[in-house]
Amino acid sequence: MAKIIDGKAISAQIRAELKEETEAFVKATGVRPGLAVIIVGNDPASQVYVRNKRRACEEVGYYSEAYELPENTTQEELNALVDRLNADNKIHGILCQLPLPKHLDENEVILRIDPKKDVDAFHPYNVGKIMIGDYAFLPCTPAGVMALLERSGIEISGKECVVVGRSNIVGKPQAMLLLHANGTVTVCHSRTKNLAEVCRRADILVAAIGKADFFTGDMVKEGAVVIDVGMNRRADGKLTGDVDFASVEPKASYITPVPGGVGPMTITMLMQNTLTSAKNSVK
Ligand code: GUN
Repeated sequence: MAKIIDGKAISAQIRAELKEETEAFVKATGVRPGLAVIIVGNDPASQVYVRNKRRACEEVGYYSEAYELPENTTQEELNALVDRLNADNKIHGILCQLPLPKHLDENEVILRIDPKKDVDAFHPYNVGKIMIGDYAFLPCTPAGVMALLERSGIEISGKECVVVGRSNIVGKPQAMLLLHANGTVTVCHSRTKNLAEVCRRADILVAAIGKADFFTGDMVKEGAVVIDVGMNRRADGKLTGDVDFASVEPKASYITPVPGGVGPMTITMLMQNTLTSAKNSVK
């Protein structure tokens, strides 16, 4: 029987700590952390994320602005908004919800956001900082995974860590954070040969490929820690991870559920980055 890592509870605990830290910071400096969230178009999943981000800001006591732009927004209009937010000293974090509609260039937006306000840590400057282990901002989802491991008392140093997935948002930065924590890290992807065999070596397995219930019990070592970053909709509308919980849970020592595992942590780490940015702004 695996211990279930309760991402909701850990997230609530960190948010309570952030709220306290924020109040102390506001008292000391008169500066309230501010986050601006931009969303373009009508993607329902994105709209849910944006709503949750606004709620999280309220919960920890931040100032927030949300820009819900129409689908036909031009690159020039989006750039102008980013420029304005870059110059606005009430705003310490700018997040442009991805994916953008196809006619807009995501890279152009990522490059345009001032790296000092890039609380997603997507700008190449911040990606480079992550690579050398001198963090300005932590990449939100991988940082959420690290916080779950730390707060569950799971040691990383010297462990075989297998990350499956190599996206810029999750897989690659996750590998870096585990490496900086002295894990022995393998990154697998769609061209990996003998994937099951590599996964079975893992003391810590991070599943981030976006395929519902892909990782089954036979792919997991007895006693492994299994972290499920997947968020997939089944045909019946139910949310499910990349891990087949029923067959993996009996073999794992720790496992994150979906929902209620990594998911709640991502926005909490975004809140942490926004406070870090506000603190940096008064240094
Ligand atoms: N879309 C899905 N996840 C994310 C995220 O963490 N940040 C942004 N900006 N867009 C996303």
